[in-house]
Amino acid sequence: MSHPTLDVAAIRRDFPILSEQVNGRPVVFLDSAASSQKPLQVLDAMDTVYRHRYANVHRGVYVFSEAATAEYDEARAKVARFIGSPSADNIVFTRNATEALNLLAYSYGRHFLKAGDEILITELEHHANFVPWFHLAQEKGVVVKCIPLTPDGQLDLSQLDTLLSERTRIVSFAHVSNVLGVITDPAPLIKRAHALGAIVIIDGSQAVPHMPVNVAELDCDFYAFSGHKMLGPTGIGVLYGKKALLEAMPPFMSGGDMISYVGFDTIRWNDVPLKFEAGTPAFVEAIGLGAAVDYLSKLGMAAVREHEREITAYALERVAEVPGVTIYGPTDPAIRGGVVTFNVDQIHPHDLATLLDQEGVAVRAGHHCAQPLHQRLGLAATARASFYVYSQPNEVDALVEAIYKAKAKLQTRRRR
Ligand SMILES: Cc1ncc(COP(=O)(O)O)c(C=O)c1O
Repeated sequence: MSHPTLDVAAIRRDFPILSEQVNGRPVVFLDSAASSQKPLQVLDAMDTVYRHRYANVHRGVYVFSEAATAEYDEARAKVARFIGSPSADNIVFTRNATEALNLLAYSYGRHFLKAGDEILITELEHHANFVPWFHLAQEKGVVVKCIPLTPDGQLDLSQLDTLLSERTRIVSFAHVSNVLGVITDPAPLIKRAHALGAIVIIDGSQAVPHMPVNVAELDCDFYAFSGHKMLGPTGIGVLYGKKALLEAMPPFMSGGDMISYVGFDTIRWNDVPLKFEAGTPAFVEAIGLGAAVDYLSKLGMAAVREHEREITAYALERVAEVPGVTIYGPTDPAIRGGVVTFNVDQIHPHDLATLLDQEGVAVRAGHHCAQPLHQRLGLAATARASFYVYSQPNEVDALVEAIYKAKAKLQTRRRR
């Protein structure tokens, strides 16, 4: 069977930052799960607006404002098409995935849930899909439960019968884990939740940038992700929602743009999605995200996924060769996104990351905003290498070589 592939050498030419040197060496950027680098096409799209037709959207009737508004609307339509949303009206622009999930906790959670209701999340959630629900629990007396993990880090769905009940109102989970890389099939969870009348929220922060996602086919109720992890700029995120739910929810923030009428005794909200977008939106960033969506669509998300599956398989193999390394999460690249999280015996991940940096290799070290998961794994911290469309096998080799060097350095120091 032939797989779609990426021309990584050509892709890399679109990313000026990848020609930079770090500590006298070509940068090996292996931290795209935290935030991706940006291609010229995104930088140029934003630069063009600022240089040639910048003006606030939804306000002016003059050429610049109308042009910016049209491009902003087109960005929303591009995002909608990219994730299979039935309409651009289902797409709320937020600052990031964190804000999208908070919007749901504030607007849906505080309005529709009462004490004793239950929210089901999982043990592997990023804090963005963990803290807002516990915050809500403190305020409203709702109960948060967590789906536990199997030994290799997948969701243990055998527990669902005891975790789901008539009281479950929300089921919310990461499509792809930012630590273990595990890809969760949303279908069985969605089916079970809907059968109980609960809504399903998916945190797609590590999925939308890396694989084809179709929200209509999934039939989830809400889907959240960030622009900066998918070649777009910071400051722009997305909340997809089913229209009837968005319409039933009260606004999250209020002020300009989110109203259709304001009088001294009457205020009418704007239609969705604008009801959830108070104030001047990050429209230049949205236009940048639109350019990122164009870039990824041209590559083809099936090819992006295949490239990451291949490089992750190679990394899992190469990193595991190093004596004293433990890799966390499933070993099967078919159910694993482009992250390889690991520890090296007797080396703190922060020390490791610092030594790797000396070789020009950028990895993330710490709890990756998933402290509960680390507690479950009995770990304080881990190191994480993550890949994207511009990652190439020689960067995995550079990582492995740098790990060997770090080990040798620390062992020599210990012997002294
Ligand atoms: C799985 C997951 N969810 C949510 C987030 C939060 O993204 P942001 O900080 O852009 O809101 C991240 C970021 O790392 C993530 O990996």
